Amino acid sequence: MSDIAEIKIGGKVYEFPVITGSEGEKAIDISKLRDLTGHITLDFGYKNTGSTKSAITFLDGEKGILKYRGYSIEELAEKSTFLEVAYLLIYGDLPSQNEVSEFQSQISRHTLIHEDMKKFLDGYPSKSHPMAQLSSLVCSLSTFYPESLNANSSPETMDLTMIKLLAKFPTIVSFIYKKSLGHPLIYPKNKFDYVSNFLNMIFGQRTEEIEIDPVVVSAMNTLLILHADHEQNCSASTVRMVGSSDCNLYASVSAGIDALWGPLHGGANQAVIEMLERIKEDGGDTEKWINKAKDKNDPFRMMGFGHRVYKNFDPRAKIIKKACDDILEKLGIDDPVLEIAKKLEEAALSDPYFVERKLYPNVDFYSGIIYRALGFPTDMFTVLFALGRLPGWIAQWKEMHENKEPIGRPRQIYVGHTNREFVSIENRK
Ligand code: SDX
Repeated sequence: MSDIAEIKIGGKVYEFPVITGSEGEKAIDISKLRDLTGHITLDFGYKNTGSTKSAITFLDGEKGILKYRGYSIEELAEKSTFLEVAYLLIYGDLPSQNEVSEFQSQISRHTLIHEDMKKFLDGYPSKSHPMAQLSSLVCSLSTFYPESLNANSSPETMDLTMIKLLAKFPTIVSFIYKKSLGHPLIYPKNKFDYVSNFLNMIFGQRTEEIEIDPVVVSAMNTLLILHADHEQNCSASTVRMVGSSDCNLYASVSAGIDALWGPLHGGANQAVIEMLERIKEDGGDTEKWINKAKDKNDPFRMMGFGHRVYKNFDPRAKIIKKACDDILEKLGIDDPVLEIAKKLEEAALSDPYFVERKLYPNVDFYSGIIYRALGFPTDMFTVLFALGRLPGWIAQWKEMHENKEPIGRPRQIYVGHTNREFVSIENRK
């Protein structure tokens, strides 16, 4: 196949290079398009537009394939820990035992947040959404670590900035959660590994030491691994866009948290449980809700279904669905919404509306059921998505800087008024 694309405009043929990715994807490099033709492209939602070359994550939406740095998501979810996968995404290779021990030890030295940061928590209304708090607390890290403000600092300073974010994020999440309950904060303890430390800060009590259930630790590792990165999704693209102005890592990730919060993106895991509860309260008539999702005049959408890229099963959804059954059985939990979810999935996958549009369950369809079984409240689900996605955001931000990519600044086609005469306010109607 030719590595040149031809575009004919006004009878003239222009040639543009075609580049091929390491997995065989093809792209037309249009970086000279406007200079040569005076034209730009228009692609709402960037459905056909690549913003970068990346070596972090590969996904094939048609085949339902997802790989981090060349390793399949199935193998990583089964055989790795979240901290190993975080190291893989950020530094490019799976760590040796020494490397992951050193990584854990570096992180353990930075898990505390400045005591003054707790004052921010006192200022939020008690029922305020944890994603709003998370975004502002993460951004405020840049006020306590001025060395992090220089996005082009030395590799050592940048590495410490990344380590601090990985280390403090679980502490911030757990402090937000404990504050929402009115419970005393539980501080990080260096004797725990990354995920166990987080679970202890979330479920621990000042009055007694708790047993961290290995089933819960394993489930949490799997869920965080499955959420760790997903190439140029809305929030990762936001982190890259904000970071492209040389804005610091903390503020860039804070912007990514805001993008993830939307119910069309990471906020879907909360919206799925709310939808399933609504269907349960309504008597569990899945047929009725499938028809509502198909009705163009009804704003209802089947949350947790459909995906911009996956036009096949989201491989993460398959793993989570299986984990759902395993974990609920191990924890002896019978959650009625799981049966509703399975009925919905079965009905949708045999309905022409969903089949024709290649709408399958995505990562958010079953994840909330596990989070709930692990004891998390619904409004913390997207925060847990952010905790998983953090190493991916860091890796994407780091790669964008290492590649010295230009500041992001898309073009537009103007469709507004052309020349209008100014009328002084006295003469306006
Ligand atoms: C995540 O990008 C990523 O990688 C994201 C993510 C990650 O890891 O970062 O994978 C995480 O965000 C997963 C997606 C979570 N969102 C939801 O579950 C919300 C429900 N899903 C949708 O709103 C929708 O499917 C999107 C937003 C996910 C994708 O939308 P697209 O690609 O813009 O597709 P579209 O809106 O153009 O839909 C195409 C058609 C439309 O119908 P027609 O106009 O062709 O008649 O499918 C319909 C849509 O109305 N459709 C749905 C639907 N999703 C799409 N109809 C009913 N229910 C749905 N969920």
